[in-house]
Amino acid sequence: MKRSQKRVNAQIPARYTQHCTLAGFHERGNASLASAKRRIARLVDEWPMAERGLLLMGPCGSGKTHLAVAALIEIIAQGKPGRLLFSNFQDLIQEILASIDSDHAPSRSEILEPILTADLLVLDELGSQKPTQFVQDMLYYIINTRYNEQRTTIFTTNYLDEPRDPKEESLETRIGKRLRSRLFEMAERVLVEADDYRKNVSGKWV
Ligand SMILES: Nc1ncnc2c1ncn2[C@@H]1O[C@H](COP(=O)(O)OP(=O)(O)OP(=O)(O)O)[C@@H](O)[C@H]1O
Ligand SMILES: [Mg+2]
Repeated sequence: MKRSQKRVNAQIPARYTQHCTLAGFHERGNASLASAKRRIARLVDEWPMAERGLLLMGPCGSGKTHLAVAALIEIIAQGKPGRLLFSNFQDLIQEILASIDSDHAPSRSEILEPILTADLLVLDELGSQKPTQFVQDMLYYIINTRYNEQRTTIFTTNYLDEPRDPKEESLETRIGKRLRSRLFEMAERVLVEADDYRKNVSGKWV
């Protein structure tokens, strides 16, 4: 398959397709960013033999989605094999909810099939949705299926295991104990801790 076709199939949002490369990720003199970047580069190097996925954790605008997308872009650019897919968890839930009310929209199983079977899935914004029973059930189904099939997933989340501020929720409270436990096995924790890059209007970090 052509590389351009693979990029289309991976469904990376247009906002990220152009600039989210590893080379374009600045370390900003920050040890956490430097080590996260190295970890992504290692997964790309090891692919398709990478067994464990990654769980990128950090605050808003720290570069998590950039790094996760960079993994997909680099793997495609290097002509490595596998079905790669980007999915934003919030959008996915909205799509599934819409399918329940419509006869025309793709069915739930049609929507979920690529998510369950992709060789490498980026599941962006884990825990960002209000954890209703429905959201928990969908997440459990996706994670548990991929866990059982030993498929690789890169997750991103704003929630930490031990929030710095006691007022903030932990990832476990957002997604539940059983899911957090599975994630430990499926994905290695990678902290991406930096100030919001989006505030960088003056360009001083570039
Ligand atoms: N270290 C960096 N070098 C270059 N660009 C960066 C860096 N960090 C972030 N950016 C850019 O800043 C924007 C925001 O980054 P990104 O979307 O990856 O943040 P995020 O951690 O996923 O935030 P959120 O938690 O809000 O989803 C993107 O356009 C990204 O390419
Ligand atoms: Mg993001």
